[in-house]
Amino acid sequence: MEARTLEEFQQYTPRTGTRSVKWDLIEDFYQDKDVLPMWVADMDFKTPQAVTDALTSRVEHGIFGYTIPDQDVKESITGWLHDRHGWETETDWITFSPGVIPSLHMIIQSLTEIGDNVLIQTPVYPPFYSVVKDHGRHIVKNPLLHKEDRYEIDFEDFENKIKDNQVTMFILCNPHNPVGRVWTKQELEEMSRICRKHGVKIAADEIHADLILPPNKHIPIASLSEETNQQTVTCLSPTKTFNLAGLQASYVITANKEDKKKLDKHFKNQGMMMLNTLGITAMEAAYTHGSDWVDALTEVLKEHRDYVIQRLENETGSVRALPIEGTYLLWLDCSQMGLSQTELKKFMQKEARVGLNDGASFGEEGRGFMRLNLAAPMSTLEEGVTRIIKAVQTFEQS
Ligand SMILES: Cc1ncc(COP(=O)(O)O)c(C=O)c1O
Repeated sequence: MEARTLEEFQQYTPRTGTRSVKWDLIEDFYQDKDVLPMWVADMDFKTPQAVTDALTSRVEHGIFGYTIPDQDVKESITGWLHDRHGWETETDWITFSPGVIPSLHMIIQSLTEIGDNVLIQTPVYPPFYSVVKDHGRHIVKNPLLHKEDRYEIDFEDFENKIKDNQVTMFILCNPHNPVGRVWTKQELEEMSRICRKHGVKIAADEIHADLILPPNKHIPIASLSEETNQQTVTCLSPTKTFNLAGLQASYVITANKEDKKKLDKHFKNQGMMMLNTLGITAMEAAYTHGSDWVDALTEVLKEHRDYVIQRLENETGSVRALPIEGTYLLWLDCSQMGLSQTELKKFMQKEARVGLNDGASFGEEGRGFMRLNLAAPMSTLEEGVTRIIKAVQTFEQS
């Protein structure tokens, strides 16, 4: 990887005053403007130059009327999925959407019935709970097993919960936010086998699919076999990968014709049939020119992960970071501090003065944990980690 590309990720770009949720809502969330924000899942890195160039050129045109994501845009998606993930998809399988969360709302409403039971693996990204409950469906939990350094799936519980509750849909998170697992082929095959056996549809949230720390490899669950492809709808987006969340451009891949018809009808009924002009431009540019940039990004994220793990291990006795395999969200095990969740949150905010996500917001299994965002230049990361270490050392000595 060219040193110049890697250096890009160490440039600090102030975001305060850009209406950034992460940087401009610090005082609202933490009642202290000097808390260092390491929470919301976007990055403090600039998007690739090719994306900014494409946007600049489109902005200079000056007219922003209704815009179609045409065949070229669709082929940039199928090309990306082929090149990065070895997944053969067809442009007819694509449904555009402003975001993965809107897509999950649509999927639940169009592919399950009111009163249905939907399985999730906890702790998990908080909207997984609301996209189910908000529409009169019920949550069934298959808690992940925390084993030393990593989380694993309790397959016996997975199948029993499906059988006992007549579950109709499973929402998979791969890579998993917040525990950072990139599920292996074997794990995916077992989940898929059980779902097929019991007629359970899979809604796969693979928004973090490109954020894989080497040498791990992402396997889209739908790519496992034709049968799995037919039972799965996959939500994807360039927004996490290329730091484009504010442009709201995402899509769903559905090979099953009947499901695609139901889903498209639902999107249409909600008046959600278009993407914004700049989102389309950014998506096409990112997927066409962004591959080397993603390789550099994942190398940087891996280095940042190892840096935080090492420092916490060497300099504290009671806080550990799990060796995540994907995403840029580090799951910090603070359970050895022996604090209640309220005390832990207060400690990070008032003593360490860092803005982290509350582990318990991902489900009760997240108690004793906090989530830290690694996607910032090393200068920011170093500052945040040093703040945590100093506060923990003082706590440990008291
Ligand atoms: C697993 C997961 N799904 C979905 C989202 C949000 O997706 P969107 O902004 O496209 O709605 C996030 C953002 O953090 C996420 O981590």
